[in-house]
Amino acid sequence: MKLFVTGGAGFIGSNFIFYLRKAHPDYQIVCLDSLTYAGNLMTLKDVLKDPSFRFVKIDIADRAAVFALFEEEKPDVVVNFAAESHVDRSIKNPEVFLQTNVLGTSVLMDACRAFGVSRFHQVSTDEVYGDLPLDRPDLFFTEKTPLHTSSPYSASKASADLLVMAYHRTYGLPVTISRCSNNYGPYQFPEKLIPLMIFNAVNGKPLPVYGDGKNVRDWLFVEDHCRAIDLILQKGKVGEVYNVGGHNEKSNLEVVQTIIDAVGKGDIRFVKDRAGHDRRYAIDPKKISDELGWLPETPFAKGIESTIRWYLANEDWMNDIFSGAYRTYYDKIFG
Ligand code: NAD
Ligand code: DAU
Repeated sequence: MKLFVTGGAGFIGSNFIFYLRKAHPDYQIVCLDSLTYAGNLMTLKDVLKDPSFRFVKIDIADRAAVFALFEEEKPDVVVNFAAESHVDRSIKNPEVFLQTNVLGTSVLMDACRAFGVSRFHQVSTDEVYGDLPLDRPDLFFTEKTPLHTSSPYSASKASADLLVMAYHRTYGLPVTISRCSNNYGPYQFPEKLIPLMIFNAVNGKPLPVYGDGKNVRDWLFVEDHCRAIDLILQKGKVGEVYNVGGHNEKSNLEVVQTIIDAVGKGDIRFVKDRAGHDRRYAIDPKKISDELGWLPETPFAKGIESTIRWYLANEDWMNDIFSGAYRTYYDKIFG
């Protein structure tokens, strides 16, 4: 079995590679990543020496390069994590989100059609459903919830999802889609809430909480997400969408307070709200649970404790990002 994992130098993609190394040591993995600011090859340093692992620096929207790699490697399965993933950046500069998230996805699927794969899996997000009100805790996103996006990021991910389903219906491409809630865990780029707050708390910087801090996210430990994707690849039905989430809703203030308590210090600063800020996300994971037997295994208290411990024990990983040293690692390894 040969898998292409795109975006594998990012947060979830790298965790997925580590997960696969343990769960399926016989798989051959080719990681395709263009190493944007969010891609960190140092994260993958331990697997780079592995003979069944190959890293290729490539932009998924570069048609010629992608087709050449498919021709050379002939993958069985493609799992697409590669994306511009940060909402705040999409508000400042939407264009690159369309280029990578929409065009890049279509280039990958064109290559899948041309060379044939047994599965193209698109890693999507609960943000495609828009948001839910805070005063209706009875409401959840199901796979039937209409797409209703708020940010250029979520609009680009929803566009990609529509394209994926269109390639299935029009060309018969064997696709699946997973729509996951907020992930947390090791190796997340420190522009996102949890690693940023840990870094700032440790370094005595203010913790910037947007708006009133009451926005709610449904937090899922990254390894539980990786297990869900693996299960969808094994047992998921082609042409189907699966919601992945944890019934683990927390307000941003609750999350930040947990970090302050664990680090032992931290100074909250309320700052201007994010434009178009989604109020609440909440996934109903009934379908993946009933059909594939998936349930989140990591309670938030345990997952956040081990995550904070990981960042505190791996300050070098974070400092290399802030100093920019991580950007030179590719040249050091590949010349
Ligand atoms: P990330 O920003 O940490 O990593 C993205 C990776 O994609 C980076 O390594 C980057 O270099 C690479 N990349 C970006 N543009 C590329 C291009 N044109 N060609 C090749 N590689 C490119 O993102 P993440 O948080 O790991 O998210 C991974 C996927 O999961 C994304 O598709 C995201 O939409 C989705 N998702 C994320 C979350 C979350 O909580 N982080 C939740 C649900 C879904
Ligand atoms: O729901 C899944 C999505 O989760 C993924 O599709 C995205 O790729 C991922 O980035 C994440 O999006 P969010 O916008 O929810 O994550 P972020 O970490 O940026 O913010 C989480 C919440 O915290 C959100 O309500 C905004 C708030 N926030 C964020 C930052 C960075 C703050 O209050 N202060 C901050 O400094």
